[in-house]
Amino acid sequence: MSFRNTDTHYGTFGVAVHWLMAVLLIAAFVIGQRMEDMPRGPDKLQTVGYHALLGMTALLFALARLAWRRLDPAPEMPDGMPKWEILAAKAVHGALYLAMLLLPLSGVMILATLPEPVPVLGLFQVPVLIASQGAHEAFEGLHGALAKVLLFGFWLHVAATLWHWYLRRDGVAGRMIPHLRRG
Ligand code: HEM
Ligand code: HEM
Repeated sequence: MSFRNTDTHYGTFGVAVHWLMAVLLIAAFVIGQRMEDMPRGPDKLQTVGYHALLGMTALLFALARLAWRRLDPAPEMPDGMPKWEILAAKAVHGALYLAMLLLPLSGVMILATLPEPVPVLGLFQVPVLIASQGAHEAFEGLHGALAKVLLFGFWLHVAATLWHWYLRRDGVAGRMIPHLRRG
């Protein structure tokens, strides 16, 4: 497998970043859901710290990936793929990119609208940008809605991978899962 993408396959860099990002996002999502039921206190602050660090790292990866896409364009869709499938793939990938960028930013804003700076695992602090309860609740609402977009997009994306592997058998699943490459 080459480092760069080819017309038909993602290269090692694209595949590695895709899977690293997927792990970071899934971990951030699972921790985020657990945090909701935690009472305020040092345990929650620490968990928010892990969640924030994972999410911010995922944002860096998403930005690196978008920059990389400009230098090393994604492979073409396979010949003969119906137009509706191409549009559906673009829409779901677009929604996933939107969530990957806006989820961490809205998460930072949840913390930056609190009255005091929030320490992240003793590494750095999220400063106060606008201390406002209204803005804090609005960003919480936005963050929760974007998390649903990510979850919905994720399941559609997994369903599409299964569709390509079992029904279409057109090699799309193997473009990101080298183990599934056919002959
Ligand atoms: C990109 C990855 C991220 C994902 C997938 C994610 C996911 C989630 C989820 C599922 C929730 C529960 C929200 C709900 O259902 O209403 C949540 C809450 C939250 N997230 Fe994130 N998040 C991410 C990034 C961030 C970042 C970077 C920060 C901060 C810097 C952050 C801060 C928070 C905070 C403060 C809450 C509310 C916790 C509470 O008080 O209950 N998130 N997140
Ligand atoms: C939160 C987790 C995930 C996110 C955010 C995500 C996002 C993406 C994005 C944005 C693309 C388009 C690549 C690009 O050109 O930039 C992509 C491609 C792909 N992903 Fe994921 N993905 C995730 C998890 C998964 C999982 C669990 C699977 C397998 C079950 C999977 C299978 C694939 C495949 C096969 C492709 C290649 C599609 C093609 O060639 O057009 N992804 N993913």
